[in-house]
Amino acid sequence: MSARDEWDVYFQQLQEPSKLQVQAEQVRRFVSEHAKAKRRIALVTSGGTAVPLESNTVRFVDNFSSGTRGAASAEYFLQEGYAVIFLHRARSLEPFSRHWAHQSLFSILELEAEASGKATAVVKSSVASDVSCQLQNFQKYCKSSVYLAVSFTTLADYLFYLREFSMVLSTAGPLALFYLAAAVSDFYLPEEEMPKHKIQSSGGPMQLHLQQVPKMLSPLVKDWASSAFTVSFKLETDERIIAEKARGALEKYKHQVVISNLLSTRRNKVTFVTLSDQVEISVSTESERELEDLIVSELSRRHNEFLHAASTS
Ligand code: PMT
Repeated sequence: MSARDEWDVYFQQLQEPSKLQVQAEQVRRFVSEHAKAKRRIALVTSGGTAVPLESNTVRFVDNFSSGTRGAASAEYFLQEGYAVIFLHRARSLEPFSRHWAHQSLFSILELEAEASGKATAVVKSSVASDVSCQLQNFQKYCKSSVYLAVSFTTLADYLFYLREFSMVLSTAGPLALFYLAAAVSDFYLPEEEMPKHKIQSSGGPMQLHLQQVPKMLSPLVKDWASSAFTVSFKLETDERIIAEKARGALEKYKHQVVISNLLSTRRNKVTFVTLSDQVEISVSTESERELEDLIVSELSRRHNEFLHAASTS
C-alpha cells in the first residue's frame, strides 16, 4: 500500500473534529494575510496525543509530553518575527503563561486588605513584574494577529487538523515552516473496533490490539505542503540507536531538518541532522538562554537560507 492509500484508509476510519472547517477557515485567513505581507509562518505542534479506547471515552492511551518544547519554541518564533499557529494539546503548556504553569495559581497570589474590610487577590510582588512582562508580550502578539492557537485532545483530531492546516499553509510556499514537536502516537484503535460504552472490569483482564498509525511525515512532505521548510523531531530513549534513526527519517522523508533528542536529556541537548551536517546544540543548567531559544534562532537562519535558495532557483 502506498503512503497515500494508508492515509486515506486512516482518515476514512475516524471522525473529523466538529470544529475542523471553522478552524480551517480561521487558518486560511491568517495564512493569506501573512503570506501577502511576505511574513514567515510557523506551524508549531505541541503536546501528546490521546488514543481513546471507548467511543464514550473514559479511558485512553497517552504519553509523557507536557508541551514545554512546543510552548517555549512558539514564543521564540514570535520573537523572531514569525506568525505562529500553535496546534497544541488542550491543557498542555502554552506560550507566555507556561512560566507559571508548574505551580498552583494560589502560590503566586496574595490577598490585599481593603478599607471596606474586603480582600482582593493580587499577584505577589516577587513575581509581579515577570507576570506583567509576559502578559504584555502575549497581548502584543494577539493584538497584532500574529498568534493563532488551536487545541486538540485526541490523535485523530491532531491528524485531521494537521492535514487540513498543511494544505492551507502550502499556499504560502517556502514561507511556511513546520515544527513538529508534538509527541504523536504510533498506535490507535479504529472506531469500528471500539466499544461504545465504558469497558467493564467485570469482564476480567483486558487485552489491547492497536493498529499502527501510518507516519504522516510522508504525505505532509510529498503532497500536503511540498514547498515548505519542514522540521521533525526524533525521540528515543536508547542512545545507541538515535543517530541512525534520525538520519533514517531524513533519508526516508527527504525534508529539511530532523532534530533528535533523548527523553532523559531533552531539556538541555538536541542534535540537528540535515543531509549536509550534524550539529549538537546544548545549554548548561546555569545558561541564561533556553534551549528552544537556540533551536529557533538556528532554524530561523536556516529557513532564511532556504527562502533565498527558493527565490533564486
Ligand atoms: O513536550 P515536552 O515534554 O517538552 O517534550 C518534547 C518532545 C520530546 C515531545 C519533543 O522534543 C519531540 O521529540 N517530539 C516528537 C516526538 C515523536 O513523536 O517522536 P517519534 O520519534 O515517535 O516521531 C518522529 C516524527 O514522526 C515526529 O516529528 C512526529 O511528528 C512524526 N510522526 C509520528 C507518529 C506518526 N504516526 N506519524 C508521524 O509522522
